Amino acid sequence: MSAIYIHIPFCKQACYYCDFHFSTSLKKKDELINALINELELRKEELQNQTIETIYFGGGTPSLLTNEELELLIEAVYNNYQVIHNPEITLEANPDDLLSVRAESRTIFEDYRSIGINRLSIGIQSFFEDDLQSMNRAHNANEARTCLEEATHHFDNITIDLIYGIPNMSLEKWHKNLQIAFNFGINHISSYALTVEPKTALDSFIKKGTYPPIDEELALEHFNHLITETEKQGFVQYEISNFGKPGYFSKHNTSYWQGKPYLGIGPSAHSFNKNQRSWNVANNTKYIKSIQQNELPSTVETLTKKDRFNEYIMTGLRTVWGVSITKIEEDFGPEFKEHLLTASKEFINQKLLVIVNEVKQSHSLEKITSSQAPRNDETVKATQKGKFLIDGISSSLFLL
Ligand SMILES: C[S@@+](CC[C@H](N)C(=O)[O-])C[C@H]1O[C@@H](n2cnc3c(N)ncnc32)[C@H](O)[C@@H]1O
Ligand code: SF4
Repeated sequence: MSAIYIHIPFCKQACYYCDFHFSTSLKKKDELINALINELELRKEELQNQTIETIYFGGGTPSLLTNEELELLIEAVYNNYQVIHNPEITLEANPDDLLSVRAESRTIFEDYRSIGINRLSIGIQSFFEDDLQSMNRAHNANEARTCLEEATHHFDNITIDLIYGIPNMSLEKWHKNLQIAFNFGINHISSYALTVEPKTALDSFIKKGTYPPIDEELALEHFNHLITETEKQGFVQYEISNFGKPGYFSKHNTSYWQGKPYLGIGPSAHSFNKNQRSWNVANNTKYIKSIQQNELPSTVETLTKKDRFNEYIMTGLRTVWGVSITKIEEDFGPEFKEHLLTASKEFINQKLLVIVNEVKQSHSLEKITSSQAPRNDETVKATQKGKFLIDGISSSLFLL
């Protein structure tokens, strides 16, 4: 079982905080789509004997593509790979695109459904005008609400992105953002703390003093509130930044976190085949040129046993499934298990990590995870207090 990610590297305008790969010029859109189709064909051998369970259009802004363009890409997947019946097909969409008027009488949502897209990931970020403007989002507060009103009539499987820890965002405002999402009946939320990435506009504004610096305490307060409020509504925090009601976890992202192989198509996209990671060049022109010459524009890194152990610690501790001690022993050997137990002691004493018995967890009833959850054994997991510090804790457990 595996997954295909397709990166659409175009955006209408650059959000101040974003360092994902995208271009605001759509001049090369046609050439790029042809290159994506060619890359899918060039790499078909890589997933031989594997069935594709999920397809994910990420970006950039995939909702900038027409339905015909998206359909061509989906067809290219079906033409070159073995795809299960009714795969999860997710499209990341920006609110303003979902409200754009189409020539035909069908809504954009009906168009998407007609080509097999069955999950929408909508980049709301905030329902408030001042927040959206402070991040240079292309949509406004009214569009954030209207697009959800319409989307929820056509799609049940919707996830929205919300950003917290925006300087000066009061707890009340963050609370309202969450309540508005709940009132729309949203079943999945991905939520990230505003992060200052080097060389972004946000980074330079903060350095110049024209934007307030990030307040970590405020972000922590928002994060704790997010956990409490989503739990009250029946969401499971199945990954540190991802909250889903049972039956609505992202199958695609879960396969990343559970170490399944995936193919990343398009400029900047990453791929994983259990032993190697590779990533494509993050430049549209170079990407197109290379694919036109039937050459993959990628860099490959072969993973050592230590790399694989470290990755399992890093991703496992971010998820509700934790890190299985039995799996560590079986897959990596007793010395890795000993290392984990010794290194985690100090964090267990500080109540940042805990060792629990997996089968007692209610989330193992969750449909998509029950077959994939670690077996009946002990697992290391982050406590609520540990979750906010999880990246630092994980790196202290790494083998160097
Ligand atoms: C890269 S975007 C792609 C999807 C789409 N273009 C959009 O903006 O919604 C995916 C998500 O990453 C999050 N994100 C990207 N950079 C971030 C940052 N520096 N801090 C917090 N969240 C960020 C945003 O919530 C965004 O919705
Ligand atoms: S957050 Fe989304 S819309 Fe904004 S620049 Fe990044 S990829 Fe584009």
